[in-house]
Amino acid sequence: MDKKIAPSVMCVDFFELRKHIETFEKNNIDLVHLDVMDGSFVSNYTLGTDFVKTIKKNTNIPLDIHLMIEEPEKKLGWFEFGEGDYVSVHYEATRHLNRAIAAIKERGAKAMVALNPATPLCMLEDLLDDIDAVLLMTVNPGFAGQKLVQSTLKKIKKLRESLYKSGYTNIEIEVDGNVSFENAELMSRAGANIFVAGSSSVFLKDFEIEENIKRLRSII
Ligand code: DX5
Ligand code: ZN
Repeated sequence: MDKKIAPSVMCVDFFELRKHIETFEKNNIDLVHLDVMDGSFVSNYTLGTDFVKTIKKNTNIPLDIHLMIEEPEKKLGWFEFGEGDYVSVHYEATRHLNRAIAAIKERGAKAMVALNPATPLCMLEDLLDDIDAVLLMTVNPGFAGQKLVQSTLKKIKKLRESLYKSGYTNIEIEVDGNVSFENAELMSRAGANIFVAGSSSVFLKDFEIEENIKRLRSII
């Protein structure tokens, strides 16, 4: 399965956003990870609907919209996305997950369910026929710069193995949170194939973004 890098735009220097997007394009970045937070599902606000629209309008790189918002099925219409984009909704954020997944797919996008570190994999059981990917949070959602929840490494492995065993070989696994150069190698070995790269890798201080992208690509 192809390994993909998804820089987490909430970690960028917003004064340099255009330059960062151009660097992503020059370095064949696979997805642009956009963290949307509503201050209720997580105790933070980040990128909003107009920001998503701006990115959608100004690059051909597919979006990877991570919705950390309550009742996402009622709000998908607020966001620009379509064919080839990835949209993740949290299992913990809605009573109508199947409805949310169907609404994402109706617009031609790839549907992803996000699980917080403590949410068990068995919650995916009745979703596997409908989803394209699983986003495993490797930190508790809400902020960049946090430390890996160690138990998530074996969760990645367990998910990859169970997907293979049950024949869902096309379902992708995205990891999000403290995907450092060291952790990325462990996560890749465990079976992840989409890497949300934030403050601990692509945007690691004191190094050029291009250099960090190349280094991460060589590791995964
Ligand atoms: C956290 C976000 C992540 C975050 C990753 O809730 O979902 O995308 O920006 O940043 P780092 O890599 O610093 O953990
Ligand atoms: Zn994210």
